[in-house]
Amino acid sequence: MVMDLAAASERARQLREEISFHNHRYHVLDRPIISDGQYDALVDELRQIERDFPEIITPDSPTQRVGDQPAEGFQKVRHPAPILSLDKAVSREELMAWYARTSKLLTEDARSLTYVVEPKLDGLTVVLHYREGQFVLGATRGDGQVGEDITANLRTLPTLPLRIPVDADGPTVPPVLVVRGEVLIYLKDFDILNNRLIDEGQQPFANPRNAAAGSLRQLDPRITARRPLRLFVYSVVASEGEAPATQSGTLTLLSQLGFAVPDEIAAFDDLEHVAGYCETMLQRRTALPYEADGLVIKIDDLDVQAQLGAVGGRPRGAIAYKFPAQEAVTTLLDVEYSVGRTGVITPTALLSPVTIAGVTVGRASLHNFDAISDRDIRIGDRVLVKRAGDVIPYVSGPILDARRGAELPIKPPTECPSCHEAVVRTEGEIAYYCINMACPAQLVQRLTYFAALMDIEGIGERTAIQLVDAGQVHDPVDLYGLAKEGLLKLDGFGDRKAANLLSAIAASKAQPFDRVLAALGIRGVGAAVSTLLTARFPSLEALQAATSDEIAGVGGLGPITAQAITDWFARPRNREIAARLREAGLVLQATDLTCASEQPLAGLSFVITGTLSRGRNEVQTWIESLGGKVAGAVTSKTDYLVVGEGPGGSKYSRAQELNTPMVTEDELAALARTDAERGPGAGSS
Ligand code: IVH
Repeated sequence: MVMDLAAASERARQLREEISFHNHRYHVLDRPIISDGQYDALVDELRQIERDFPEIITPDSPTQRVGDQPAEGFQKVRHPAPILSLDKAVSREELMAWYARTSKLLTEDARSLTYVVEPKLDGLTVVLHYREGQFVLGATRGDGQVGEDITANLRTLPTLPLRIPVDADGPTVPPVLVVRGEVLIYLKDFDILNNRLIDEGQQPFANPRNAAAGSLRQLDPRITARRPLRLFVYSVVASEGEAPATQSGTLTLLSQLGFAVPDEIAAFDDLEHVAGYCETMLQRRTALPYEADGLVIKIDDLDVQAQLGAVGGRPRGAIAYKFPAQEAVTTLLDVEYSVGRTGVITPTALLSPVTIAGVTVGRASLHNFDAISDRDIRIGDRVLVKRAGDVIPYVSGPILDARRGAELPIKPPTECPSCHEAVVRTEGEIAYYCINMACPAQLVQRLTYFAALMDIEGIGERTAIQLVDAGQVHDPVDLYGLAKEGLLKLDGFGDRKAANLLSAIAASKAQPFDRVLAALGIRGVGAAVSTLLTARFPSLEALQAATSDEIAGVGGLGPITAQAITDWFARPRNREIAARLREAGLVLQATDLTCASEQPLAGLSFVITGTLSRGRNEVQTWIESLGGKVAGAVTSKTDYLVVGEGPGGSKYSRAQELNTPMVTEDELAALARTDAERGPGAGSS
C-alpha cells in the first residue's frame, strides 16, 4: 500500500499512541492486554512508515527510545524551581518534634492535618519536563539549582512515558508540566546486572544506587538502554495550568498520566498512626523490591506545605523518616581468596564478627582489587561494612582516622588458591583469573562443560565429581585415557554404563575443530565465537600462533577475548593439554564443513530471552554478522527463540504458544554450523 505523507503521518500518530498505551500496560502496570507479537507488529509498522517518511519522526516516537550516538558531555539545565532535599527524623520522638515545630506555625484550623507516607526511594533524583504532553527534557538534580541534561538516556527507560497522558482517555495535561522522581534499579535486577558485568570482565557496582547513577550518567545512551532502570515519580515541580491541591491528588494524577508511582503509599490523619506505619515498614524493608532508605512523610495539603515554606533548602511540610543504616564498623582480620568455577579469583574479607541490622556478619565481599586499591583498604583496618536488602554484605571502605600504622596492604593474588598456577589479569580488566585447564577448583565445571560441548553423554556433574574424586581424571583430556576397569569401580557403574560412556567418549573424537576449541573453555570463547574463529584460523596451530591483534576484530571479537585466547595458549599447562588432545586423536583443524559460510543464518529471524553467557548485544551482532535478524518480540515469523539463563516472561510463553523452536546459545552455534553445511543455497555468496 502506498501512502501519501498526510496518511502516513496520521497512521504514525495512531500507532505511537497505541504503542505507548501498550508499553505502559506492560512496563508500568504489569498488565499487558495484547501479545508481544501484536505489540511487535505495531512497532514494525511504525518503523516501516518512519523509514519511508523520515521527516515525520517525532522525538516522542517509541522508535526513538534508543539509538542516539554518544554525547561529548552533558549540558547544564537550570531547574524551574529549586529541587529541595528533606530534613530527617530517625525516631518516633524526632517525628513528634517535627510536628510540634510545624504545627506552631499553622493557624488553628490548619492543624488537623492529613499525611501521605511514601517510600524514600534510594536512587537518583530526576527532573522531567513535558511540553504539550511531550517529554522534552530530563535532568539530574545536580546542586538543586542546576542539573545535567540526560534526556537521551532517560528516553531509553521503558517506564518513562514519552507522551502523556499515555491513555488517550487520560486527564488533560497542563501545557508545561515538570515532575520530579527517582530512577532506581530493583534488587533482583541489580544482582543480574552485576553478574553480567563480572562475566564481561567489567567492574560490578557497589550497590543499586551507584548502579542507577552510573547507568544514567553514561555518555552513550545505548549503554543506559541495557541497564534495568525504572522510574518512579512523586511530585510536580512546576506546572503551567492547573495542578492538584494535595499530594495524594498529585500521585493520583501522575499515575493516571501514565507514570509509575510507588506501590507502598499510605495516608493517615494523625501522626501516631504515621509513626506506627513507619515502624511496620522498617520491619518490612527487606521485603521491598527496591532499596528504600526510609519513608517520606508529607503534609497532604500542598497549600499548607507552601505556607510553611522551607528553611535551609529543606521544606518544613515534609520530613524523611530514615531507617537505621544497615552498616557497622569492625576490624578487617584477613583476606581470603577463592577461585570460582569459572576461574575468577575473588577476595573475601574475614572480619571480627559484628551485628548489622540483626544479622551477624563475619565475612564480607571486597568486590575486586581495584576497589581495594582505590579505597586503600588494609589488613588490620577498622572498616565500614554495609548490607542492603538481601545483597551480600560488603566492605565499603576503611576508617582512615582509626589507622595506627601497623595495617598491612592487601596484595593481589599471584597464584591460584587451588592449583597454585600463576594468575592472569587482562589489560583493562578488573578480575584476576586462573586459566589453568587442570585447576582442581574448576575441574568439575570444566569437565561437564567439555563433555556438553563435545556431546559426550553421561558426564553430568555427579559423574564428573566421581571421576575427579577417584583420581581418574585430572583434566578433560584424561577422559580419553579412561579404562573400563576404572569406571567399574565407581558407584553405580555396571558393564553397560561403562561401555556406553567409553563409546560416547570415543565418538566425541570426531567432533569438528570448532567444537573442540569451544570445549576448552577459554574465557569468551563459546560455541558461537569458536565457529567464527575457526573460519579465520583453521587449525589449532594457526590460532596458537596468532597475536591478539590478529584475533581481535574477527567476527566482532573484542581485545579482551583476544587477549584471553593468547593468554590461554601462553600457559605451558594448557599447551600441554593441546598437545595431548592431538595425541588422543581429536580433530584440531577445520574441515571445509566447519568453515562457516559467510551467511549461514541468512533469512532466519531470532528473538533472544534470558541472560546469555556473552552479552546480548554481542550475540545479536554475531547473529547479524552471519546474516540473521534479531527482533524484540516473538511473532509467527520468528524462526528461533534463543533462550539464556532465567528465561520466562512473555517472549518465552509466546514462543510456547506459537510452537517456536527454542535453542540454547550452544545450539545456536551448532545451527550456524549445520546451516553452513547445507552449502550453497543456505546463503553463501
Ligand atoms: S520529596 C521537597 N519523596 O530523597 C520535596 N523525595 O532528601 C522533597 N526521595 O534525593 C522530596 N523518594 O529525591 C520525596 N517519595 C519521595 C522520595 C524522595 C526519594 C529522595 C529525594 C532526595 C531525598 C530527600
